[in-house]
Amino acid sequence: MLRRRPLGFLLLACNALSQQTPLQSQVEASTDSVAPFIFNGLSGLLTQWPNTVHGNGHSIVPGILHPFTLLYHGRQDAKLPPSPEWLAWDPEMSFAIMVPRGGETHLATYRTMQPANIVYFDGMSAAWGDGWLDSQHMFMYGVSPKDGKSTNWWDDYGRAAKLCDWAKPRDIDAIVRMNAGFQLRSELIWCDFDSPKLQLVSHLNITPPGTPERLPFPRFPHLLGVGDEDDKDKEPPKQQPPWRGPGREPGRRPGGGRGGGPGWSPVAEIAKTGNLEWVRAASHRAASPQPHLTLFPSLMVTYYHPRLESVAAERTNKSMTNHRLTSISVADAISVVEEVNDVVERFKAGDRGSGMDWTGTALGIIEYWGDRISHMHSLLLNASEPDANATASLLAIRTLAYTLLNPYMQPGIAPNASGWELFFGMPAVAGFDGTVTAWERCTRQKTDFLSHLADLRTTQEILLQETIEIVLGRLCYDFGMIFAQSSDLVEGNPVDPFIHQWRIRVEQLMQWLDWSVWLRCEDVCPRDHVCTTPVWPIAWYVGGRVPGFPGSGDTDPDRLKPRCIRMAV
Ligand SMILES: *[C@@H]1O[C@H](CO)[C@@H](O)[C@H](O)[C@H]1NC(C)=O
Ligand SMILES: *[C@@H]1O[C@H](CO)[C@@H](O)[C@H](O)[C@H]1NC(C)=O
Ligand SMILES: *[C@@H]1O[C@H](CO)[C@@H](O)[C@H](O)[C@H]1NC(C)=O
Ligand SMILES: *[C@@H]1O[C@H](CO)[C@@H](O)[C@H](O)[C@H]1NC(C)=O
Repeated sequence: MLRRRPLGFLLLACNALSQQTPLQSQVEASTDSVAPFIFNGLSGLLTQWPNTVHGNGHSIVPGILHPFTLLYHGRQDAKLPPSPEWLAWDPEMSFAIMVPRGGETHLATYRTMQPANIVYFDGMSAAWGDGWLDSQHMFMYGVSPKDGKSTNWWDDYGRAAKLCDWAKPRDIDAIVRMNAGFQLRSELIWCDFDSPKLQLVSHLNITPPGTPERLPFPRFPHLLGVGDEDDKDKEPPKQQPPWRGPGREPGRRPGGGRGGGPGWSPVAEIAKTGNLEWVRAASHRAASPQPHLTLFPSLMVTYYHPRLESVAAERTNKSMTNHRLTSISVADAISVVEEVNDVVERFKAGDRGSGMDWTGTALGIIEYWGDRISHMHSLLLNASEPDANATASLLAIRTLAYTLLNPYMQPGIAPNASGWELFFGMPAVAGFDGTVTAWERCTRQKTDFLSHLADLRTTQEILLQETIEIVLGRLCYDFGMIFAQSSDLVEGNPVDPFIHQWRIRVEQLMQWLDWSVWLRCEDVCPRDHVCTTPVWPIAWYVGGRVPGFPGSGDTDPDRLKPRCIRMAV
């Protein structure tokens, strides 16, 4: 059943390969490439888990908020919001932020009447913490050394004002950011409430029956202060780790009530699950993007661009969750601002580039490879057990690798070819497409046509094309090696050293890719639970452990592991 090829041939052939093809050099150089980071930024746009686990945003993307989208704004008084203020896609967060403060809660519901222009900052860009605010901060202030590079976490109104100062003259209506969900304060910063693009739909006093009096000061400024005129003028507190949100233990203290934290009063019985419902709303976006928005990745600006050398050194040997931007040089910071300005101009002029569906392409790659990579890893772990059946393991490994690669090879016209020849070589058989190897086809088939549409591609798309080809080059190479080696192993040869080698290969690949698609709750959550990672600010304490902030050096691989959380009504 297994190919009878002497192993020496394979090794010789692979050595020869490394001296010959540009693709081989590309794969060798990929270890230090930014491609997996840009790829994760692209595939994770507007989605909760990728942005939660990778944390520190690096992408800035223009887009359109769809017309006739309902948006929500919670307040403690009956006034309508001034400009700029926050709007939520889902009412749960407006409720959870306002109601536990006691006193009245008013909910203004709006509808967009026309498509609205937005700019999106990816990552946990609406959360307070080192790293999470880097991309906004370096975008707004990084150009001037005198402004310094330390972020005033809770100066949300300062950020909103400055971002809107930049946005308004460019006809950008809103800034989209995320923490737990894309909601009020996490969120859409709407720059002008007098804009004809926004219409008030309803304005209600939604104070839950039985709500106690509003608590007097001291309250936690700004976190609670959404929509509070009086909070705006208050001196921001000095930089210190903020108390992170209502209800430290969402499972036991729903609604932030009964001593959930400073400034929180007991909530009405009927409203006690408000915080948990915010967690539920955020969990709806775990793996699917926030709807009601269309982004244009063909105009995606990224701080991972290889030209930005001043931030590259900081990333060495660090996973994405620890990538900071604080070392950015003034020149590099300015060059990003200029690129964003240029992109926004082209966006408004209707330049969408080639028309390639970049997000769909990236998500398609994750769908095709993602669960088969973790399946392969699991197979290899089992095959590493001392009592594993080597013959059966080898067959399973070879079959799974073949599944991923079969669209690219032609065993039908070269039935006697070795695994290596089929994937990396070009068997000398009449009718065989002798100019392209299966490896090249696997790597480039999705994107290489774009090289001939050079005039249509935006500069941002050139980087995305390279990114995808580097990621696929490595995926195809690693699985091509496993396929070739498992096919060509001579019967009777010891399998164990190969199992070990393949396991290391797959583990290094998984570490390099760092895909959030492998996150899951290990159990199926009961009906009254939701599966969530810790999300700031509402459920950062999920699972009885406080994860370190990005950049804190908390390298526990399980720090943001999803768990089932009980919605204790
Ligand atoms: C990064 O890790 C590699 C492999 O462990 C090591 O050889 C290298 O010295 C490290 N680089 C830095 C700057 O720590
Ligand atoms: C690995 O072994 C466990 C325990 O026998 C089994 O449940 C699981 O299905 C195996 N996984 C694979 C991929 O074969
Ligand atoms: C190992 O697996 C092979 C292939 O499935 C099977 O033919 C063989 O009987 C197994 N050997 C043992 C000892 O179970
Ligand atoms: C494949 O190998 C077999 C056995 O050596 C031989 O009979 C057959 O002709 C070969 N087929 C091709 C297409 O080369």
